[in-house]
Amino acid sequence: MCGIIGYSGPRKTSPLLLEGLRRLEYRGYDSAGIAVGREGRSDNSLGIVKAVGKIAALKAAMPADLDGAWGIGHTRWATHGGVTLANAHPHTDCSGKIAVVHNGIIENHMSLKAMLEKKGCVFVSETDTEVIPQLIAHYYKGNLLEAVRAAVQSLRGTYGIACIHADEPGRIVGARNGSPLVVGVGAGEMFLASDVTAMVAYTNKVVYLNDGEIVDITQDSYSIIDRDENRVDKKVDEVTWELGSIEKGDFPCYMEKEIFEQPESIARAISGRLDVENSTAKLGGLNLERRHLSGIGRVRIIAAGTSWHAGLVGAHLLEHVARIPAQSELASEIRYRNPVVERDSLWFTVSQSGETADSLYAMREIQRKGATVLGICNVVGSTIARESDGGIYVHSGPEIAVASTKAFTSQLAAFYLFTLLVARMKDMSRDEGISFLSTLQSVPDLVRRTLAQRDKVQAMAKKYHKAKDFLFLGRGILYPIALEGALKLKEISYIHAEGCSAGEMKHGPIALVSPEVPSVFLVSDDYLREKTISNIREIKARGGPVIAVGVEGDDETKSLVDDFIPVPKSDSRFYPFTMVIPLQLFAYFCALELGRDVDQPRNLAKSVTVE
Ligand code: M6R
Repeated sequence: MCGIIGYSGPRKTSPLLLEGLRRLEYRGYDSAGIAVGREGRSDNSLGIVKAVGKIAALKAAMPADLDGAWGIGHTRWATHGGVTLANAHPHTDCSGKIAVVHNGIIENHMSLKAMLEKKGCVFVSETDTEVIPQLIAHYYKGNLLEAVRAAVQSLRGTYGIACIHADEPGRIVGARNGSPLVVGVGAGEMFLASDVTAMVAYTNKVVYLNDGEIVDITQDSYSIIDRDENRVDKKVDEVTWELGSIEKGDFPCYMEKEIFEQPESIARAISGRLDVENSTAKLGGLNLERRHLSGIGRVRIIAAGTSWHAGLVGAHLLEHVARIPAQSELASEIRYRNPVVERDSLWFTVSQSGETADSLYAMREIQRKGATVLGICNVVGSTIARESDGGIYVHSGPEIAVASTKAFTSQLAAFYLFTLLVARMKDMSRDEGISFLSTLQSVPDLVRRTLAQRDKVQAMAKKYHKAKDFLFLGRGILYPIALEGALKLKEISYIHAEGCSAGEMKHGPIALVSPEVPSVFLVSDDYLREKTISNIREIKARGGPVIAVGVEGDDETKSLVDDFIPVPKSDSRFYPFTMVIPLQLFAYFCALELGRDVDQPRNLAKSVTVE
């Protein structure tokens, strides 16, 4: 949440900051602002411009002559204080010489504010952030680094900050505790940002900061110190993302692009990880010995939102196929529950961004209790990826739309690979392994064929988008897909939707059924098919419209329901990959019909870095 960028170098600073913020907009879009240093002006003052709304509003508000030699920028997802110009970042101290952008929450801001007010500071916003520049000013004696170092010792909570001082040309000081911060190393220019998308157009050399670290940046150099003021020499990583991968290309929005990229992104997740000769999977990043893997007594998965749904599918699969007890739990719940951590449990944290605060803090808590926690992440170098004990990168490529689509199917691929690996160490025969492996190889093609239903789903969205409520129902391994379908519809179309286990329907949700409330069923061709069909009949008997996503050739279901979207027939354990596709498309087209901002839905942000 909230995007941060800083730049020191010879390029025109204001347009560069604006462009970086445009790329970070998915992290929050309530307001935006920049502050640039303008050495040489008689008063050495900072140039600051802010606007409520998106980056386009900031661009429109930008005076033509606002430029400087170094600067910082911010795009906000509001936590403390309403969406107003006064609350937009950057925030300054009373002199206006120090400017700060911040991602995170300062929990003790009220007591700091009271202390600073007693010393004569005047506050102009309702934010927690404003105490930071005021506190830095309180400690400032001609050296920004020293002042930031002193100030952060008083801060409680989370922060990724970038600070500049009007009298220290070219210098940016950044500090991190709980919110991501990355240094971009260019030739004769330096960047600081909350994530690499902001600077990938200029450099692919990055240095990830850890909690407690402070970085001091000039145009030609950066140096990092830790909490104990020791200098830290860190590895410079290379980002492999192509600039094109963060552009929309010919698609009208990122979500549509990302939905249609899934055959390739799933293929990338699987690529090089199948051992055909031994009909198993190869997952080098797990950092686990064979003995450890074969002795796993239980798998526990922690995640949030869509990643949690991927975890639910993974847990079902591990239990069903590998015969390992498994559970997927909400990170925000487990963290505060003091969970029992059994010695033979293996834990996974699933996160597209690798920065979700709930998932990160839950993972740290589980690690503190002595467990091994593996990460299933998309963003390389993200905090969860770096702090986990090993894991699986899903290689979806940058996912920019707030609603997660391609990361979800790649997370599924990671669980299918892991399941194959451990199942083959247990009871799964070579023949069963071959069959599982070859179906997994065919998934990109199955998904490609399902995407061909695009126009049919669009027509369905035209028919149903005015409904105020939807039910999504599935059983077994398709129950998490029902949850995912409901989440997608809610978050981008703002239509109320509930995902339920079809078996639970008669225990309450059926009371919602009426001619105005469509139900979307996921109908497999496995042992649960007949039960699901009975549930459909129960809804039809009560006048509820039914849409079914089912298997091609299932004429019985087709004749029973109002609208039917087929997916190619395959091993039923793999239907989560295909059946989620029409649901993603349905949410997308309903949102378009309703004129929603598909990529940046209201109130949401891509990466939830505050609790
Ligand atoms: O980056 P993560 O996978 O950890 O994010 C978890 C959730 O915030 C995320 O999946 C959210 O639910 C998406 N907006 C769903 O589309």
